[in-house]
Amino acid sequence: MTEMQGNTDVRKKRVFSAIKPTGNPTLGNYLGAMKYWGRMSDEFDCLFSVAALHAITVAIEPKELRENTKRLFALLIAVGIDPEKNIVFLQSHVKAHAELCWILNNYTMFGEARRMTQFKEKSEKAPDNVNVGLFDYPVLMAADILLYQADVVPVGDDQLQHVELCRNIAQRFNGRYSPTFAMPEGRVPTAGARIYSLTDPTAKMGKSDGDDLGSVFILDKPEDIMRKFKRAVTDSDTRIIASADKPGITNLLTIYAAATDTTVEAAQKEFENGNYADFKKRAGEATVEALRPVREKYEALRRDDGALAELMRSGAEKAARIASRTLEKVYKKVGFVRL
Ligand code: TYM
Repeated sequence: MTEMQGNTDVRKKRVFSAIKPTGNPTLGNYLGAMKYWGRMSDEFDCLFSVAALHAITVAIEPKELRENTKRLFALLIAVGIDPEKNIVFLQSHVKAHAELCWILNNYTMFGEARRMTQFKEKSEKAPDNVNVGLFDYPVLMAADILLYQADVVPVGDDQLQHVELCRNIAQRFNGRYSPTFAMPEGRVPTAGARIYSLTDPTAKMGKSDGDDLGSVFILDKPEDIMRKFKRAVTDSDTRIIASADKPGITNLLTIYAAATDTTVEAAQKEFENGNYADFKKRAGEATVEALRPVREKYEALRRDDGALAELMRSGAEKAARIASRTLEKVYKKVGFVRL
């Protein structure tokens, strides 16, 4: 690890991001976030986490949470995040997240938390479980980010509002006491910041639990991926161009561009004279090829639970060292008596 503990003047900029172990991770999670995470360690000191504390804000069975968490941890490594060059860990292994969250609650205004789009959406989706944790969710996210003094937070665009709230909280705390937290900046990928459902291209592709034809899962078998692309909804005319009135084709062009590391414009050019059936097939094949190495590496990692647990332990230790320094500073500043 390069200068991770070092003097703030010489350290590389720091990156933090996380993913929550609910449902089955999708192509949206991959193209919008995880794919880029593995490529950031040359330029940044990176920490990536599985956010299980966030997962219990919606009802989830313990067994499912445990399996989802292990799966995601292995997936983070499988997408190319090298645990030697990055800190990869489970949020639930570092207690400072919950502790800092409590403190930050007192510097977060009820009104600003109430404005969060995701809170409103999730409350509508499960009106009988609008719990305080769901409301507090973005404050816990702020704790995740601020504990590590992150400068950059790579996310899909649905999380940008939460990163903005985190900045407001940091600013308020720094202003009330003295500079304590680095000011994080949310960063979305140029292609893939939002991937939509293949069956309803106006809805975000989400980690649903069932066998949803609209979501491609990172660990789907190639034949399932091809079947889903074949059935993907397109639009009424035959042109392969990205435009607001063609959400289906625009989404497929975005997926193709992100999966093959090109731009939507270049993809559009490539399919200029093509037809929908061929284009859908090519988008499916590109996705299969992008996900194949991830699935293979994942399967190898899951064959050795002991080795995976060892990686979790070492990641947690490294993360906890950094987190406890920030928390110690915060405790002093707010006026808690230290032993
Ligand atoms: P989560 O688990 O919903 O998603 C993980 C990442 O995937 C991105 N993403 C998408 N990108 C493009 N298209 C989609 N359809 C799509 N669906 C999801 C998300 O934007 C995200 O970057 N609250 C966070 C996890 C979290 C976190 C944090 C993130 C906890 N603490 C601190 C950043 C910093 C979440 O639920 O992401």
